[in-house]
Amino acid sequence: MAFDPMLQRQIMGRFATGVTVVTTRYGKQISGMTANAIMSLSLDPPLIVVSVDRQSNMHGHLTQGQCYAINVLKHDQEEISRRFAKPGPKDFSDLELTSAATGAPIFVDALAYVDCRIVEVAPAGDHDMFIGEPVAGETLDGQPLIFYSGQYAQLESTST
Ligand SMILES: Cc1cc2nc3c(=O)[nH]c(=O)nc-3n(C[C@H](O)[C@H](O)[C@H](O)COP(=O)(O)O)c2cc1C
Repeated sequence: MAFDPMLQRQIMGRFATGVTVVTTRYGKQISGMTANAIMSLSLDPPLIVVSVDRQSNMHGHLTQGQCYAINVLKHDQEEISRRFAKPGPKDFSDLELTSAATGAPIFVDALAYVDCRIVEVAPAGDHDMFIGEPVAGETLDGQPLIFYSGQYAQLESTST
């Protein structure tokens, strides 16, 4: 019998992660999606991966754009995470944006970003893994937003 997907979600939800918004630019349009299924895949050569649901709008936008930026959210950016986790067009209007090498939107207020060119797409069940070669990136100061067991949290030191 197939493993229960709800149990899989609960188990993997016990693995605390940071929260990112993955953005892309395709033609004159920009788009983004909240994501925590990201990983530093290889250091030599440098490769990053984000796993994206084939049903999401972002999947098509990444396929068109062939690039993405991963914006690591700060502890006070929960509202942005919730906003970019809703399906459909995303409102960037109140966000201070910049760009680096690919043109994918970078949040000026993020904790870190990495800008990537997509070099490979590896199928994985109902998701595809978009493997990116990092071409620009930066870390900034602050504390991370945490996602744990389906809820947002902060590092204990953040609130003291
Ligand atoms: C904390 C969090 C992490 C998420 N991580 C991912 C992820 O890694 N990959 C993914 O495909 N969806 C992920 N999602 C779900 C997408 O953000 C959601 O499906 C979004 O509505 C997609 O928007 P779109 O269909 O307009 O592209 C996550 C949602 C949350 C709240």
